[in-house]
Amino acid sequence: MIKKCLFPAAGYGTRFLPATKAMPKEMLPVMAKPLIQYGVEEAVEAGMDVMAIITGRGKRAIEDHFDISYELEHQIKGSSKEYLLQEIRALINRCTFTYTRQIEMKGLGDAIYKGRTLIGSEPFAVLLADDLCTHTDGDGVLSQMVKVYEKYRCSVVAVQEVPMDQVSKYGVIAGKEIGEGLYMVDTMVEKPDRDEAPSNLAIIGRYILTPDIFDLIEKTEPGKGGEIQITDALMAQAKKGMVIAYRFRGRRFDCGSIDGFVEATNFFYEQSKKEG
Ligand code: UTP
Repeated sequence: MIKKCLFPAAGYGTRFLPATKAMPKEMLPVMAKPLIQYGVEEAVEAGMDVMAIITGRGKRAIEDHFDISYELEHQIKGSSKEYLLQEIRALINRCTFTYTRQIEMKGLGDAIYKGRTLIGSEPFAVLLADDLCTHTDGDGVLSQMVKVYEKYRCSVVAVQEVPMDQVSKYGVIAGKEIGEGLYMVDTMVEKPDRDEAPSNLAIIGRYILTPDIFDLIEKTEPGKGGEIQITDALMAQAKKGMVIAYRFRGRRFDCGSIDGFVEATNFFYEQSKKEG
C-alpha cells in the first residue's frame, strides 16, 4: 500500500570529511555496498518501488549508482565478476528512481518538504541511509513499520532506547504504551539536554508519514540549530494522537558517525564469514 520511499540525502556529512568532500556520505560502502543501496533494499523488502531521493550539490554519484554503466557492463560481461552487479541491476529494473535537489541545507524537515512533488498526496516512508538497520529474524524495520501503519493509519516513527547521556543527539519521544513496543506519542523534543529529555526513546532514521505532514512542515518555524525540524512538524500530528512510536526489532548502526560505521563494517564482515 505504501509505494514510495523518500531518502533525504542532501546533508554535508561533515563528520566524514575529508571522505565526503567530493563523495556523498550515502555512497560510503559497508563491505562492497553503499549505504544507500542497503536502504533501497530495505524499502523494496517492505513493498515499495518508487525511490524519491533528495540530493544536493556533489551528490551525482547517487544517480549514477542507480543507473546502468554501459562501458563497465560491457567490460565484465561473461567474466567471473559479472555476478557482482546482479543485485544492483535487479534494483534498477524493479524500481523507479526520482530525484530533486535541496538547494539550501535547512534541515531534515525542509529536505522532506522538498520531496512533496515526488510524493504527492499519499502516505510514504522516509529512510535516512546513514542509519543502517539489520534484522536477524523476520521482517526488516520498514516492513515492521508498514504493518503498524496498516493497523493505526497514522504517522509512525521508529524508536530505540539509548543511554541517557546520548539523548541530546536525537529527537526523543514520550507517550502512552499501547502495546508491546508501541507508544501513542504525546511529546517530542529535538535534541534535548539530558535533564529535559522526556524518556530515553530516541527516534532513528525510519518514518512512515501521512501526507498532511507537508502542510505542517510549511507552517514550521526553524527550531533547534536554526533548522526546520521534522520533529516539530510531527508534534502537531502528535497533539491529535496521530503519531505512533514503534520500538523496532533488529539492530541499527549509526553510520553517520565513525564509531557506528566501523561497528557496522565489523558486523557485516563477521556475518559474511559465517555465511561463507
Ligand atoms: P545529519 O544530521 O546526519 O547531517 O542529517 P549530515 O549533514 O548528513 O551529517 P554531519 O552531521 O554533517 O556529519 C541526517 C539526515 O538528514 C539529511 C542528511 O543527508 C542525513 O541523511 N539532511 C539533513 C538533508 O537531506 N538536508 C538537510 O538540510 C539536513
